[in-house]
Amino acid sequence: MAKIIAVTSGKGGTGKSTICAGLGYTLAKQGHRTLIIELDFGLRCLDIMFGMENDIKSDLGDVLRGEKQALDAIGQVPMASNLNLLCAPKTLTSVTAEQIVEICRSIKKYFEYIIIDTGAGINSHVFNIVEQANLILVVTTPDPVCIRDASLMSDEFYNRGNKSQRLIINKIDKKIIGEALVNNLDEIIDKIGVQLIGVIPNDFKMTVATGKGHPIPTDSMALRAFDAISKRLLGEYIPLTVKTS
Ligand SMILES: Nc1ncnc2c1ncn2[C@@H]1O[C@H](COP(=O)(O)OP(=O)(O)O)[C@@H](O)[C@H]1O
Ligand SMILES: [Mg+2]
Repeated sequence: MAKIIAVTSGKGGTGKSTICAGLGYTLAKQGHRTLIIELDFGLRCLDIMFGMENDIKSDLGDVLRGEKQALDAIGQVPMASNLNLLCAPKTLTSVTAEQIVEICRSIKKYFEYIIIDTGAGINSHVFNIVEQANLILVVTTPDPVCIRDASLMSDEFYNRGNKSQRLIINKIDKKIIGEALVNNLDEIIDKIGVQLIGVIPNDFKMTVATGKGHPIPTDSMALRAFDAISKRLLGEYIPLTVKTS
């Protein structure tokens, strides 16, 4: 039965989709059968990040309309044989939390990990979906607006009963930490109040790779960070190192 991991943030552009792609990729490369479900209705992007833009035959919209079974709408990601993607529809499609929860339930037995990209914006159905997850990865950047939104989101999940949360701080840059915006990582963690699972550097090599639909280069600092977070998800002890360019 798959462990369901929801990747979410208060603010858009924090790197949720990039993190879903990176963690999905590293978990799959470590041998774990993984599915990413993209909930960014009307604004899908993971097909481009995985170089599958022209290969997507079906998406979540077909499943929601009852035209496809979820398993038949899933595409195998060419760059990692254990990685699978259920794309968001290209148009806004009405959806309920119950439908997404039911889709997860129906395909859980085929995967070890289901990663849910909650997409832009937060509304009550996203809360209802995410609170069902086994683990919530709350994503923030060192930007104070982002930190405040992540804190509010995390509190809301906590109040709704989901206490299984970990924090990812993305787009770490030495020009930001210690100088312009925040003093150190501890300040971010204290403000959000969620245990850290990893930090991901601002890495131009990764932006180029995902923009072109190429695998993240093996010498990219971000890939090393994803690898470490995946291993921590699996329960391995990997010490935290913060490397920025
Ligand atoms: N660690 C990172 N280093 C460099 N660029 C990043 C990083 N994380 C995300 N990005 C870039 O930031 C932009 C927004 O990321 P995205 O994953 O689409 O955010 P979200 O899904 O939260 O809206 C994209 O252009 C992406 O390539
Ligand atoms: Mg996104």
